[in-house]
Amino acid sequence: MLKGKKILIGITGSIAAYKIPLLVRMLVKENAEVKIVMTDSARDFVSPLTLATLSKNPVFSEAFDSITGQWNSHVDLGLWADLFLITPASANTLAKMTHGIADNYLLTVYLSARCPVFFAPAMDVDMYQHQSTKDNIRKLVQRGHHLLAPTSGELASGLCGEGRMMEPEAIFNEIRRHFRTKQLFRDKKILISAGPTYEAIDPVRYIGNHSTGKMGVEMAKAFANAGASVKLVLGPTSLRVDYPLIEVFPVTSALQMYEACLAFSAEADILVMSAAVADYRPEKMEETKIKKSVESIDLKLVKNPDILKKLGELKNENQFLAGFALETDNELENAWHKLNTKKADLIVLNSLADEGAGFGTDTNKVICITKDGTQRNFELQSKRELAHNLIQYIYELTGKKQANA
Ligand code: C5P
Repeated sequence: MLKGKKILIGITGSIAAYKIPLLVRMLVKENAEVKIVMTDSARDFVSPLTLATLSKNPVFSEAFDSITGQWNSHVDLGLWADLFLITPASANTLAKMTHGIADNYLLTVYLSARCPVFFAPAMDVDMYQHQSTKDNIRKLVQRGHHLLAPTSGELASGLCGEGRMMEPEAIFNEIRRHFRTKQLFRDKKILISAGPTYEAIDPVRYIGNHSTGKMGVEMAKAFANAGASVKLVLGPTSLRVDYPLIEVFPVTSALQMYEACLAFSAEADILVMSAAVADYRPEKMEETKIKKSVESIDLKLVKNPDILKKLGELKNENQFLAGFALETDNELENAWHKLNTKKADLIVLNSLADEGAGFGTDTNKVICITKDGTQRNFELQSKRELAHNLIQYIYELTGKKQANA
């Protein structure tokens, strides 16, 4: 999959640089073309000779060779790349990237590159937690760069915490994934619902559920990475979604989610309803906080509209509709029933019975069932990875749908 892909790696001064030769080896083994640019301080951590030998290309650090006078054009190098990966990315380099400072060769290449940029921060926990680093990372992500988030663990300083560079294998997988799904959904419009809904009882209390919206948000990001324009109708959640190509429409209640989804549904090519919508809401919201003066209160609940079902009724033949289902019993049977009654093309079934799957976790395991009567299982994996696999699957299913039309 990486055959002939031109990957430019920028290495900055961090101890994690010693892991980059492994990454270069993996990429070259997959027949990618790799070129490397490194800052002066990166050379203290890893040898250019090692990197040049493994990448089979000269390593660049300066605009010109001080002995031969040979000019290394930063513009040519920047334009050469299909992908620019800055790893490890130090706090210093991240700050300079954010502000367009070009006081070394790597940064001039960065400013000349037109390709997607990935960056894998690596630094000590306090530097990573510092507000200025956080602000810089946020701005780079808003710019459309792909953050390869550091993990938590032992750091070279002896401290423990967030700031460890993502492992080379994981970076390698992210790069493969990028090329696999890149542009799959270019010019497609996607509508996604995610998160819980809160149904107000009084101005203070509500009926809600444990959904965090993680799976739906990862789906939104995966579609956006694949070139789609995404409208994300998001229930109340602590997740921040600051991402190019994703427009977020925050809502609180099921009725608000219904209105928003219906308003956007006609123009969407693919609709993914992953929100955990409350089935019932209090018939009436009290104007003032209910006092605890009485021993018991009766709360009359009325049914909320089923958004997925409504979209199934409204759907035109070119649209693809997916729903999620979370079941605690008779899982498959209920999921098939849902698929049919809601006229969905796909139901993604999570089970609360599975460890590591469902609300709030970073991993998930699902079974997909389709209108054509097929079933595909996706084993336990990170929600991010699963989202990529699911959009790839949706791509296959939409292709089939068009072929059958
Ligand atoms: O029927 P059930 O709630 O289990 O179905 C789950 C699926 O239906 C999810 O895709 C969810 O987003 C959607 N749903 C909805 N509106 C509701 C209830 C569920 O869109 N009121």
